[in-house]
Formats: sequence, C-alpha cells, structure tokens
Amino acid sequence: MTELNVKRQALVNTADQFLLDIYGGLSQPQKSLPCKYFYDEKGSELFDQICQTDEYYHTRTELKILDDILPTVAGMIGPYVDILEFGSGAGIKIRKLINALEHPRSYTPIDISEEILLSSSHALQQEYPELEVHPVVADYLSPIELPASFADETAHRKLVFFPGSTISNFDMPDAIHFLKHIRSLLSPGDALLIGVDLVKPVPRLLAAYNDRQGVTAAFNLNLLHRIKATYDTDLNVDNFWHHALYNAEKHRIEMHLVSRVAQTVTIQGQSFVFKERETIHTENSYKFSIEGFRMMALNAGFDSTECFTDDANLFSVHFLTAT
Ligand SMILES: C[S@@+](CC[C@H](N)C(=O)[O-])C[C@H]1O[C@@H](n2cnc3c(N)ncnc32)[C@H](O)[C@@H]1O
Repeated sequence: MTELNVKRQALVNTADQFLLDIYGGLSQPQKSLPCKYFYDEKGSELFDQICQTDEYYHTRTELKILDDILPTVAGMIGPYVDILEFGSGAGIKIRKLINALEHPRSYTPIDISEEILLSSSHALQQEYPELEVHPVVADYLSPIELPASFADETAHRKLVFFPGSTISNFDMPDAIHFLKHIRSLLSPGDALLIGVDLVKPVPRLLAAYNDRQGVTAAFNLNLLHRIKATYDTDLNVDNFWHHALYNAEKHRIEMHLVSRVAQTVTIQGQSFVFKERETIHTENSYKFSIEGFRMMALNAGFDSTECFTDDANLFSVHFLTAT
C-alpha cells in the first residue's frame, strides 16, 4: 500500500479538550455540546447511513447537481489544480470532482474523524496513484499548518471544496468568518466550490432530521455514548431522546437531546442538574436563500461566478472565485 504523508494537528480529539468543552457547554443556561464531537468512528458511520435515508435529500441532490455541473466547473478552473477539502468524511463527492478535472495535482482532505479520513485517503491514493494525497487530521476551527502542496507559494491554481452544506453548522458571524478564512488561503482567481442547503417547506425539513429508521436519532445520541465511553460517569443514555425542530426566526433546524426526567449527571466528578424536558442543544443547520448566501460570499471576498441548483430547488452548489 502506498505510504501516505499524514499531518496531525496537536490536541485534536484529546480527551482533555473534549472534557473542557463538555463542562463549558453543560454549564450554560441553555446546555449545549459542540457538533464536531458527533464524529468519532461510530458517528461518522452513522452520518454515512443518514446520507442514505429516504428523507435526507441533501446528499442525493448534491451528487446529482455535481454530475450535471462538474464538466462546466472543470472548464472554469482549468488543469493542474491543487484541491483542499474541509470535512471530507467518506470522500464520496471528491471522486466526481477528481474524475472531472484535468490532471488535478494534489488533494488535501481535512477532517476531525481520523479513522474515516485515513481509510478514505488510502483508498483514494490507490485509485489515483498520480494524485498527491495529503490528509490532515485536524479541527478546522483551529489554526492548521497546511501541507506544502497547498501553501501560499504554490504556482498552481487552488480549489477549495466544501460540500455537504457543512457551512450550515456555523452560526452566521462564524460562517462569514470561516469563508474569510478560506479566502485567506487563496489568491485572486482561485476558487471555492461549496454546497449550501436551501430554505424549503418545513415538513420536508423536519422529515429529513427525523428519519423513520431513527438513524439521525442514533447519530445525535451517539454523542452521549461517546461521553460514556470516554469518562467516568453515571450518564444513562436512555434518559435522553432526540428532538429536531425548525426555528423559523433563525431559518435553522436545531437538534437537541431532551432529558426524559429530572436528573443529575456526574461526569469525572462534576455534576450537572437537568430538569425534566430540559435540552442539550447539539447542532444547528441553517437554511439559505441563494441571494442570502451570495451576499455572505461577497462579504468574504468572493465573486459569485455561478450558482447551480436542482429542479426542485432543494440544494445549491456555488462556484465562487476569489477576488
Ligand atoms: C456534515 S458531514 C459532511 C461530510 C461530507 N463532506 C459530505 O459532503 O457528505 C461533516 C464532516 O465534517 C467533519 N467535521 C465536522 N466538524 C469538524 C471540525 N471542526 N474540524 C474538522 N472536521 C470536522 C466531520 O467529521 C464530517 O466528516
């Protein structure tokens, strides 16, 4: 098997940082936990299963859009490009991009979930021996030292790929901040190809985050299983249930874990009191209009070159050029 040159960001996924974030989140008036902790090995598997449920339109729709547009995108970006992907996961969409591009030079996938990142990077390197694959195990919310293939000095055109509407998990100011961060990695003329979920009737949204098989519920509850597996705790996962709701004022789906009973949970000696029906807020997924997202991209230093959608306007893929 070809050896991969893997970079690991210090402190990523450490038990200490996780514990600090648990203590911080559960001490707030509205208890919360950062959604990045969904993605241990089990959580990444569950996310892949979510993508295959009937209700989760995102993945199917984005893949279809990519099939339709990638020849056009490849023409706009040109040959010998260096690609960087944030939150690459199982690496399904990148194959479509690589197949469409003319002689892509390098691929830098960044993900917090080490097992899935390394297994998908190995598979990709085997399939595309000419492509330089440089996986980075990192929390992309922290500063990351990037491989030389994607450094400022590279003479080649750069393309950042950010599919799956992962940008929806950021609160608005953080989303603009992250787009600005992406822009700072690029030179004028480089590009960002980003998948963005669209506003739509609420029943369709609620169904997508409350699938009948209960996979999204298992994904949400896995966060508690992860805490239980990592720390000394009397946490009883069965005392919580999954709840997804639409916050119309903020245009976002919210996922919560609801306490079935009044209870005290102790984690590594620190106790947290829950009232009956009190929730832990675990994830937001913002829904955008095309114009609204364009304005954000403009604000972050991108020109909105093209925006592609499906016939039912469920999902959008924006091709943005750094100005
Ligand atoms: C919603 S999934 C999208 C996966 C894939 N890009 C897709 O389009 O299907 C989010 C991905 O981002 C990764 N991720 C989430 N938060 C992260 C963080 N703070 N740093 C690095 N990776 C993160 C997860 O492990 C997961 O693979």
